[in-house]
This record gives sequence, C-alpha cells and structure tokens, in this order.
Amino acid sequence: MTHQKINIEFEEYDSIDQLTNEDASLLREAIKATDIAYAPYSHFHVGATALLANGKTISGSNQENASYPVGLCAERVLLSAASSVYPGVPITTMAISYRPENGKSNRPISPCGVCRQTLVEYETLLKHPIRLILGGIEGKIWIIPQAGSLLPFGFSGEDLK
Ligand code: THU
Repeated sequence: MTHQKINIEFEEYDSIDQLTNEDASLLREAIKATDIAYAPYSHFHVGATALLANGKTISGSNQENASYPVGLCAERVLLSAASSVYPGVPITTMAISYRPENGKSNRPISPCGVCRQTLVEYETLLKHPIRLILGGIEGKIWIIPQAGSLLPFGFSGEDLK
C-alpha cells in the first residue's frame, strides 16, 4: 500500500484591481456576459469569457429551458461556441462570473461537475491547459492554472481505448 496525495494550486486575489490588465478585462467581460444569460427559472445569471490563442475573445452565458435538465451552463455554451467559431484554436484562459437576481455576488463560483468534464475534454483536444479566473462582481478572485486540476480521477477518452 502506498499513500498518495493530490494537491491543487491556485492563486487568491483580494479584488479585481490586483489582477493584470488582461485578466481584469476578461473578468469584466464575463461580468458583462451575465447580462446575456437566459435564466428565467433559476434567476442565477452566469457569464463566461474566453481568451483564445489567436488573441480573440468570445463570451457565453447560461441558457435555461422549461425542461430544466435541458439547460446549459455558461461554460459549456462558451466552449461549444469557441470550438465552432474558432475550431482547433486553443483556449488559454476562461473568466467566469455570476449575478443572482436576488442575492450577492461577492465570492468566486467554480464550474459544476459536467462543465469540469467538458473543460478537460477541450484541454485534451486543443492540447493546452485552460486557465480559470473565478470571481463575483466583487470580492476575492481565484485563478486556477489548469481546469483539469478540478477534476482528479476524471474519465477520459484514454479510458475508452
Ligand atoms: N450555472 C452555470 O452556468 N455555471 C456554473 O458554473 C454553475 C451553474 C447555471 C446553470 C443554471 O442555469 C444556473 O446556473 C443555476 O444552477
């Protein structure tokens, strides 16, 4: 028997002012993208903006459905859009923010399990880590160097071989 341990590294910032200009502007775009969320059922608006290796940015937001499970998270909307508009171009950074209609947005949220699985799929496909910037409209911000670190022991295409 050996005892194994997995560590996750991330950076914590006190506010958006401490980020580089590029990271701050991506997070601001993600906050702006909460305005294009379609969230009439949860009233929880999520926005995400990605920077691609070609220098382009693209945003996504959550898109809900009267049949609740059909709804899509902002992260997966964004990943599908990026892969459709700029196929094969690595996604280098994704900023994610949120704005509840009734409630605060003063701490980071991190992607749900399905989105983590999808982020890893695109990291693998595009052979590039996706750096995550997680922050509310105010409050602390977390930067995670590689989305895959949020999904230890994940299932992958390798397992299907
Ligand atoms: N949601 C996201 O878009 N991203 C997340 O990381 C967490 C949850 C959405 C799904 C649903 O539309 C609403 O937030 C409430 O769960």
